Amino acid sequence: MSDWGLDALTQPLGAEQFLAQIWPAEPFVGEGPLDRLEALVSIPELASVQELLAIVPGDVRVWPPHDAKDEATRIVPSAEALARYQSGWTIYLNNVEAFVPALRPLIRRIELDLGLHVGDVATEVFASVRAAGARPHCDFDYGFNLQLSGTKTWKLAPNTSFKNPHASVIVSDPFDADVAAYATGLLPKAMPTEGARELVARPGTVVFVPRGTWHTTVAHEPSLALTFACRAEMWSTLLVRELELQLRQSEAWREAPERWVGPLGVTRPARTERLAALLADLPHVLGALRAPELVARWTAPRDRVYAVSEASAPRLVVDPLPNAMGTFVSLADGPGRRRLLALPPEHVRVVSALIAMRLPFTASDAAALLQLPLEQAAPTIAALVGEGVLVEL
Ligand SMILES: [Fe+2]
Repeated sequence: MSDWGLDALTQPLGAEQFLAQIWPAEPFVGEGPLDRLEALVSIPELASVQELLAIVPGDVRVWPPHDAKDEATRIVPSAEALARYQSGWTIYLNNVEAFVPALRPLIRRIELDLGLHVGDVATEVFASVRAAGARPHCDFDYGFNLQLSGTKTWKLAPNTSFKNPHASVIVSDPFDADVAAYATGLLPKAMPTEGARELVARPGTVVFVPRGTWHTTVAHEPSLALTFACRAEMWSTLLVRELELQLRQSEAWREAPERWVGPLGVTRPARTERLAALLADLPHVLGALRAPELVARWTAPRDRVYAVSEASAPRLVVDPLPNAMGTFVSLADGPGRRRLLALPPEHVRVVSALIAMRLPFTASDAAALLQLPLEQAAPTIAALVGEGVLVEL
C-alpha cells in the first residue's frame, strides 16, 4: 500500500504525535526527503509551474513582487501569468485537484487521517522566482505547505491581535474593517516580530500554518510549493445557514421588506413594527433547535469513500474470457481463486484502474481520474462493492 498520508507529511514527528501535540493550533515544521512523498511528487503535472499552467482552466491569480507596493493581485490569462511569474510575480492556483485529478485520492487520505469530511481539504500551488512570495498575512484555513522545488524563507509569528479570523487577512494599513471590529489587541502594520520564527524550506520541507498565524515567504530561486488547505466552517456560518432554512418555512419571514405593504403602508415605522413582531418570535425558532440533531447533520458524511479491500487483495483483471461470450471480467484475488464479474467488457479498464487504487476515493474521484462520466463509474464501483473487492470506509 502507498505510504502517503498524514504520517509521511508530518515527519519526523509522525501523525500520532502531530494530532496529539500540534493539530490544529500550533505551527509545525517537518523535514524529510521529498521521496517519502513519492505518491505526490510522481504526479507529472506537478513537475513544474509551466506544466500546470498548460492545463489550468481559465484565468490565473498572480501576486505582485514584494517590492511592488503599489501593485495589487491580478487575475490574468495563463500565458500572461507565466510572463509575470518570470518577472517576479507569484502564481497562486487553487483547487488544483479540479484539473490534476491524481491529487484527489491523496486529499481523501489526508481528510481521513485528520478526521475531516470529503471536500474539507483542497490543494493550492504557489510558484515564484527570487524575491517574490506571499506578503504578510494570516489565513482562514489550516495549511500544510509542502516545498516541491527550490528554497524559500518563511517567517511565522503568533497572532496576538485576534483569534479565529473569519477570512484570510493581509497586514495592511488601514486594516480590514471587519477584522478590526473584533480585534482585541493592536493590529500590526508589518510582519510581527514578537515570538516570530524564521526558517528555510527546502524540497521536502512541510510547514503547517494554523489558522490565524501570521506568515510571509520569500523565494531564493524558482520555488514551487503545494498546500493542502483544510477548510473549517464556523459555528456562526453553520447556524446562520440552519436559521435561513428554518425561517424560510415561515410565510412572514419570506416577505420582502421592500415590497411589503402593511396596514400603515410602507413607511419606515411600519416596517420597523413588522420586523419587531418577527424578531419577537425568534426565540421560539431558536428554542426549537436541538444541538444533537444539528451536530449529527453537520457532521454527516458528504460522500461515500471507498478503498480496495485488503482482505480481498485483488491482483489482476484478466481480459474477457474467450469462451464467456465477452461479457465477463475475471478477477483473481488469491492463489487459485478466480471469480467472474458480470460486467461489460468496456468496464475492464475501469475495474483494472479501481483495483489498482492504493488510496481512498469517491465515485466522482474515480470518474475524474478515469475521465468517465460519473454515471459510468458508479455502477462499476457498486458492483465491486457487492463483490467485496471494494469496501466503503
Ligand atoms: Fe497563507
